[in-house]
Amino acid sequence: MRFDVDATRSPDRTTVHLQQFSVAYQYPVYFTEGLFDPGNPVLADALGRLEPDRRHRCLAFVDDGLLEADGELADRIVGYARQHAGRIELVCPPVPVPGGERIKNELFFVEQMQRRLFEHRIDRHAYVIAIGGGAVLDAVGLVAATTHRGVRLIRVPTTVLAQDDSGVGVKSGVNLHGVKNFVGAFAPPFAVLNDLDLLHLLSPRDKVAGMAEAVKVALIRDGAFFTWLERHADDLVTFERAALAQMIRRCAGLHMRQIAHGGDPFETGSARPLDFGHWSAHKLESLTRHHLRHGEAVAIGIALDARYSALAGLLEDGEEERICALLEHLGFRLWHPALDGRRADGRLEVLDGLREFREHLGGELTVTLLDGIGRGVELHEIDEATMLDAIAWLRERDQRP
Ligand SMILES: NC(=O)c1ccc[n+]([C@@H]2O[C@H](COP(=O)([O-])OP(=O)(O)OC[C@H]3O[C@@H](n4cnc5c(N)ncnc54)[C@H](O)[C@@H]3O)[C@@H](O)[C@H]2O)c1
Ligand SMILES: [Zn+2]
Repeated sequence: MRFDVDATRSPDRTTVHLQQFSVAYQYPVYFTEGLFDPGNPVLADALGRLEPDRRHRCLAFVDDGLLEADGELADRIVGYARQHAGRIELVCPPVPVPGGERIKNELFFVEQMQRRLFEHRIDRHAYVIAIGGGAVLDAVGLVAATTHRGVRLIRVPTTVLAQDDSGVGVKSGVNLHGVKNFVGAFAPPFAVLNDLDLLHLLSPRDKVAGMAEAVKVALIRDGAFFTWLERHADDLVTFERAALAQMIRRCAGLHMRQIAHGGDPFETGSARPLDFGHWSAHKLESLTRHHLRHGEAVAIGIALDARYSALAGLLEDGEEERICALLEHLGFRLWHPALDGRRADGRLEVLDGLREFREHLGGELTVTLLDGIGRGVELHEIDEATMLDAIAWLRERDQRP
């Protein structure tokens, strides 16, 4: 059989036409302050990037946790649209949606949002603006990716985690059948607008949670950034503005670089290079029914896989302690009783996370571990007895006075 781009006839009984094209994606990621101040041009510019002379129809969904923390936000958004009425038309007042994992745990909310798009005749040239934490962005992202097979999405991430990681990426999704992100899509946004001011209302818990992703990406990609995090840990725990801003920009940049230059932006292979520490984190989130935040679970997952890396002889002895010390300095607890949860047959439940991690991708198991600080390495086999030792080490560390 031969592959022929222009084949019309073939001596064989079968002809194969190899369809082939590539599409270049581009989206700006802004870092700004006072996004909805009437004088800030960022949102209007982002909407008008391709058609600067048009008036753009927009429907905004806003995280209700954020609305609760900032009672004037909805009015500011409406005021901004009024000020820029030549370029922006809000089809209705900003629509509140449930913040946090609630919105991802039921398809009900996805359908409800799609109904809004239907009612307001949002088409492929109109915009959905998602304003919220990672969970809201994931759910609204799925809505935007699937309605009319994809409408334009502007993301306004409002948590540290969403600004430094999830908001700048290409993935969206919600949970189903108890599996994280079981239903989702790869769909790059139209633009991402990070506003540092939106973070100051965030709970201390959520501010800290987002720092886990910075430690993660530093560990697998950028040793100098890890050292920077160690040096600035005191500033980060007090949420000092300049340090927080720098951490977010560097972390977001490393994620963007991996997506653009890692060779597999839509994860068709077996690797999930940015998901260091995540096989156990996703499982812990489900096991705790999301009482652990994503970032908190990732911090535990990082500590676990760092210890495993050391036990497996990849990471120099003692480096895992250094990693745990930074995470603890930032405010993470590196143990949760769910790590000890057992199935009826006596097996630790968290270990099922390895199987689920592989199933999510298909292919062979690929887990990122560390062979140095700043150096991720992919392994295709995990020794369960060694992993149990790593869990025991975390338990024992947690019980130290
Ligand atoms: N798509 C991806 O690539 C990707 C990557 C990492 C994580 N995620 C997902 O992101 C989710 C976690 O996101 P998260 O850590 O941003 O938390 P979150 O979205 O669960 O939000 C945490 C809480 O903060 C509230 N909130 C949001 N912004 C606020 C603000 N500015 N002020 C006050 N309160 C605010 C929310 O209402 C919620 O109660 C998980 O579902 C995770 O799976 C996705
Ligand atoms: Zn993550």
